[in-house]
Amino acid sequence: MCGIVGCVLTNRKAAPILLECISKLEYRGYDSVGISTVDENGIHLKKGSGKIKEVDDKIDLGELPGSTGIAHVRWATHGIPSKENSHPHISNEGNISVVHNGIIENFGEIRESLESEGYIFHSQTDTEVIPILIEKYMDKGFNLEDALKKTLKIIKGSYAIGAISKNNPNEIVAARKDSPLIIGVGDKDYFIASDAPAILNYTKNVIYVDNGEIAILNHDGVIVKDSKDNIVDKKINLIEWDAEMAQKEGYDYFMLKEIHEQDSAIKDTLSERDNINEIITEIGNISRICFVACGTSYHASLTGKYLIESMAGIPTDVILASEFKYSANTLNKDTLVIFISQSGETADTLKALKVAKKTSKTLAIVNVLGSSATREADFVIYTRAGPEIGVAATKTYISQLICIYMFAAILANNKKLLDSLDEVPEYISEILAKEGEISEIASKYINVNDFFFIGRGLSYPTALEGALKLKEITYIHGEGYAAGELKHGPLALIDDNVPVVVIVPPGDNYDKTISNLEEVKARGANVIAIGSCADEFIKTEVTDSFCIDENVNEIIAPLIYVVPLQLLSYYISVKRGLDPDKPKNLAKCVTVE
Ligand code: F6R
Repeated sequence: MCGIVGCVLTNRKAAPILLECISKLEYRGYDSVGISTVDENGIHLKKGSGKIKEVDDKIDLGELPGSTGIAHVRWATHGIPSKENSHPHISNEGNISVVHNGIIENFGEIRESLESEGYIFHSQTDTEVIPILIEKYMDKGFNLEDALKKTLKIIKGSYAIGAISKNNPNEIVAARKDSPLIIGVGDKDYFIASDAPAILNYTKNVIYVDNGEIAILNHDGVIVKDSKDNIVDKKINLIEWDAEMAQKEGYDYFMLKEIHEQDSAIKDTLSERDNINEIITEIGNISRICFVACGTSYHASLTGKYLIESMAGIPTDVILASEFKYSANTLNKDTLVIFISQSGETADTLKALKVAKKTSKTLAIVNVLGSSATREADFVIYTRAGPEIGVAATKTYISQLICIYMFAAILANNKKLLDSLDEVPEYISEILAKEGEISEIASKYINVNDFFFIGRGLSYPTALEGALKLKEITYIHGEGYAAGELKHGPLALIDDNVPVVVIVPPGDNYDKTISNLEEVKARGANVIAIGSCADEFIKTEVTDSFCIDENVNEIIAPLIYVVPLQLLSYYISVKRGLDPDKPKNLAKCVTVE
């Protein structure tokens, strides 16, 4: 997991601009950073381990000569975070510099063979074989483009690569296979990047590089070639997000900003209604639905199972993408496989999508426009939540849910449910208006070690999502459980040190959930109940409560009740002195299996 950028500029220094661009990709990795530029004197390099700001404070990353360069933020896969393992990586004679996102699977054997030829490696990374191979071929007389092409024939795995060479001070050659890569086309300035927010300050015109393609950027413009060396006539897409949308806009953290964007994000998501209608008509008869996803997207999928089975009567499974291969041979042409992914680049999900395509119709519900999943699937629904920078998914979860609700309601011809979705933004605004209450509750629980989150039916996935948010950004153990299942084991863990968050909206499951609430209360647990503002019980009989508009019933509750849970984790995280945007060991987009 990493982020790369590169630029070929006219009459401007590249390094300060690369520093700004790469900072926008810090959500893709933040254990090290580096910038390399090139001019008539050769390759220049600055890099180090740590967050961008820390490294920049020490070595002034933006202070390098040259108007062409590449930059990288790293999330370690091969080799610990260290200066040596940071990108860019330089060839032995120092003539080539390379940034890479992805994994070179056969780097061990390539490295051995290069070492036997006398080449020296300075890092433990898989990437370092790339500049060394390029240099080897350039020494034999190939130019940068051809040397990279020869290198690509040898390496196996996934990559988005940007390479510069001392011989071509105004050129970047880039290549892509299974890792995201876009090209930005400015006015006499050209960029490469893993993701659009990196370059939006400079251009909104973007080319999506496809698998197997390579791109040559220089002062004459951009040329993209396919694997057979044919020039490809690529479409230039206009990105509608502006650079400010990818900034914090006054909030302390992206996560809080993104929680606050949920009401407006939903309005955009709802615009997919006609598209979903058309997709359902085009798909025709299906006898089974399979959702495939990871993490938060998996929780959204679980909600889909409850809705589709109960309303449309279509048998529906939910499979973790990393476990998908064990179910693959149960699919057939009458199965619709729905892939849910914020990034559209999650390696486990993409792998499953490639397998499912062989037998079944595939639909991807994705946030990032032009991402790999959108190009692989037969049908695409965009969640339209805008860029999400905080590592923990918030607004994209709600947008995924909205898409799933629209899909299920249209499938089941449930116009009442479909229409009720228009009210969701207002309910969320009401919660955000009293977020101070959640902040106060959070203050009481910053030093506990374990939490439980329980709910029944549609509130069960909400409980799972509440627990996941807590784990990832507060480092407190949180466990989501079906409320009725608690007595079959985990109740043994409950005592006055374990707060239990109970999700108890009005509806059929209310009475039974209250019984489960009483069970944990009787074991001494501090209960934090999330329920209706008309519910007197939760106001008087539990340790803490947060109430939600009484018109929100348990069917639409997943779209609304998760918001206080996001805020609870956010405030606990901040009050513990942590950075909720950058949880340790995690990255926004997991492009390794
Ligand atoms: C949790 C979170 C992750 C992602 C998971 C899948 O807050 O963000 O659990 O949901 O890594 O990512 P996508 O949805 O991009 O496939």
